[in-house]
Amino acid sequence: MKRLYTYIIVLCCLSFKMAGQENTAPAKEIIFTETKDLSLIMTLTKDSTLEFSYFGLKITDPSPFLKKTSYRRVDYGTEKLVYPAAGGRNFKEPALSITHANGDINTDLMYISHKRVTGMSDNVQQTEIVFRDRKLPLYVYMTIRAFWKENVITQSVKIKNDEDTTVVLHNFSSGYLPIKAQKYFLSTFSGAWAKEMTMEETQLTQGMKTIQSRKGVRTTLTENPSFVLSLDKPLSENEGHVIAGALAWSGNYILNFELDEFQILSIQGGMNPYSSEYFLKKGEELITPEMIFTYSSCGAGGASRNLHDWARNYVIYNARDIRPTLLNSWEGAYFNFNEKKLLKMIDDAHSLGLEMFVLDDGWFGNKYPRNDSNAGLGDWQVNKSKIPSGIEKLTDYALKKKLKFGLWIEPEMVNPQSELAMKHPEWITGTQGRPFTTIRNQYLLDLTNPEVQNFIFNTIDNILKSSPGISYLKWDANRHAESVGSTYLPEKEQSHFWIKYTQGLYHIYENIREKYPNIIIQSCSSGGGRVDFGIMKYTQEVWVSDNTDPRSRIFIQYGTNMIYPALVSGSHVSASPNHQTNNQTPLKFRFDLAMTGRLGMELQPENMSSEDIKFSKNAILTYKQIRDIIMEGDLYRILSPYNNHGYYALSYISKNKKRAVVFGFCFEFQGRTITPLLQLNGLNPYKNYKITELNTEQPTFWGDGLIFSGQYLINEGINPKLQKCYDSIVLLLEEIDETNN
Ligand code: GLA
Repeated sequence: MKRLYTYIIVLCCLSFKMAGQENTAPAKEIIFTETKDLSLIMTLTKDSTLEFSYFGLKITDPSPFLKKTSYRRVDYGTEKLVYPAAGGRNFKEPALSITHANGDINTDLMYISHKRVTGMSDNVQQTEIVFRDRKLPLYVYMTIRAFWKENVITQSVKIKNDEDTTVVLHNFSSGYLPIKAQKYFLSTFSGAWAKEMTMEETQLTQGMKTIQSRKGVRTTLTENPSFVLSLDKPLSENEGHVIAGALAWSGNYILNFELDEFQILSIQGGMNPYSSEYFLKKGEELITPEMIFTYSSCGAGGASRNLHDWARNYVIYNARDIRPTLLNSWEGAYFNFNEKKLLKMIDDAHSLGLEMFVLDDGWFGNKYPRNDSNAGLGDWQVNKSKIPSGIEKLTDYALKKKLKFGLWIEPEMVNPQSELAMKHPEWITGTQGRPFTTIRNQYLLDLTNPEVQNFIFNTIDNILKSSPGISYLKWDANRHAESVGSTYLPEKEQSHFWIKYTQGLYHIYENIREKYPNIIIQSCSSGGGRVDFGIMKYTQEVWVSDNTDPRSRIFIQYGTNMIYPALVSGSHVSASPNHQTNNQTPLKFRFDLAMTGRLGMELQPENMSSEDIKFSKNAILTYKQIRDIIMEGDLYRILSPYNNHGYYALSYISKNKKRAVVFGFCFEFQGRTITPLLQLNGLNPYKNYKITELNTEQPTFWGDGLIFSGQYLINEGINPKLQKCYDSIVLLLEEIDETNN
């Protein structure tokens, strides 16, 4: 059994040199945290300051850190505090900033104690460190969790006020990590609606780079709370030292990367303090979400695989469940359907071999029917003229055909044209006397209010009680917050809105999970507006974008799967020309790309040719035979779509390396002079693999049916025929059992 270690090395023989103006005091103790390949080393100085000394590949004997001297003059400011607060000699962006009960704006945390929490699994070790302000009874409890096999370390804090009266928190980061390298290349994921998770690399210069959301909801539509940082040189896939990280929070977030004059980069992440002063009364606490870090010495690929393993093992709700393939009604029917049309779509989903039908927007509202986006949100009763026999009839019909049934809901929102808005105007977010506009014709409900939380829980509970045949919810959220104000929160605590909204959302999710542990939930928010490790604790999957064009999806899913594993990313085959981009692509290209995630379809099967139906049936059947490799295997990216002449290739390799599936795509024409060579890293070099081309009746790869050594596949690689724009290929690799030969 592997063990994790966090222990203190007590300084025996070091004498404390008076630092004067020259250097900081040597350490007296070490707090040492390990995973399989990493060490995180903190040192405690004689004056009870806890500093970060190291985060990187393993150093089994950390004792030199007891002697290490930094040569840095003390008047240059503190160097690597574990949790720097505003005040004293800290000149960096503070992790914590407080106005104390007596008006004092300085905080200087000293280490009080730490302990290892025992009784958890062998793979996880938790360390809790207690800090206290040197002068006032303000406490910070930091929790560090180390995940041995996954090489992931998480940080979060609890801030507790034991002062006489209320203190005000201005900054309250979850984690802080100061590191040292020669150069820093930061990749972040930004974009817009239908263009989410575009990956961009910047070399950091002295100063601060920030990624953040101030929108409250749809927080990941334009930037994602995650990053990949390459040390010393630009990011590459298979080699180089990389730190990757993310914040598990679905509300406003901020990640700061502050490079100082000593070339120290401080990475800091947490809930965004924007307009969020937090009043902590005597005895109260604020708990921050987890900041997640991993370190890889084999490039972006290693970092992604660490995060994917960790997310599958510790975050994603029911990560081991098979995700059903599905037909979603949105792009096939939009708001325009009746019972007959839906029953026909269920028939078609069944005959295609899909496993679930999902009824999207438009099924509810009677007085204000949801026939377009203008009305009905909030009135979650089935629309009697569209679906007179009710949802149960649809679920029964689907179940008889052994199809699961899913339903769309957008419970945080309300149209002004709805019975709910008229009955409960006080539940709508907004500040009295200030204009606040509708976005997509809708307002945001105030989830800080427990009555609203109950309303949402009861809405979902009633739907699931009255239609027990529902096994999937697509939980959407199509606007952000603005002119925020709550009739529930006290006047002096309006700035708590942003944090309490997200806490309210999680509270509802917790209640739903308690009562409905098996329901599958997809997190959607105008596409990829709620893609984060916070929501994934409650949901099995996310809708990464409303853009279903495979050409755009190549980039969106490439970025998404840098951080989040393929099993969470819903990926649908839709009609061509594509409804968002007008691009035309062959059905095979659309299927091949959609199969790199959780496969679904989102079109009107009625409009498909018999040839396309036949192709689809085969592809769906094939997907079911290989999806375990995609869901549970290791992702080895082969060619990035960003810098490979319009080629994109990736592979998933089963954990035992016996099966793999390789996907290759050409999305730009290159005059047939440049052809891609796919080197299949991750296979076992000492085994032989048989290659079978999938999703085609006429294989185009010369190696179809042949056996290759792992060494050949890794070192030489394969050269599939990807010549014309929208050529694509899927290959299954199976290890040959030598004993039978
Ligand atoms: C959002 C979602 C879509 C669809 C529509 C329905 O835009 O992202 O997938 O559900 O709402 O109105």
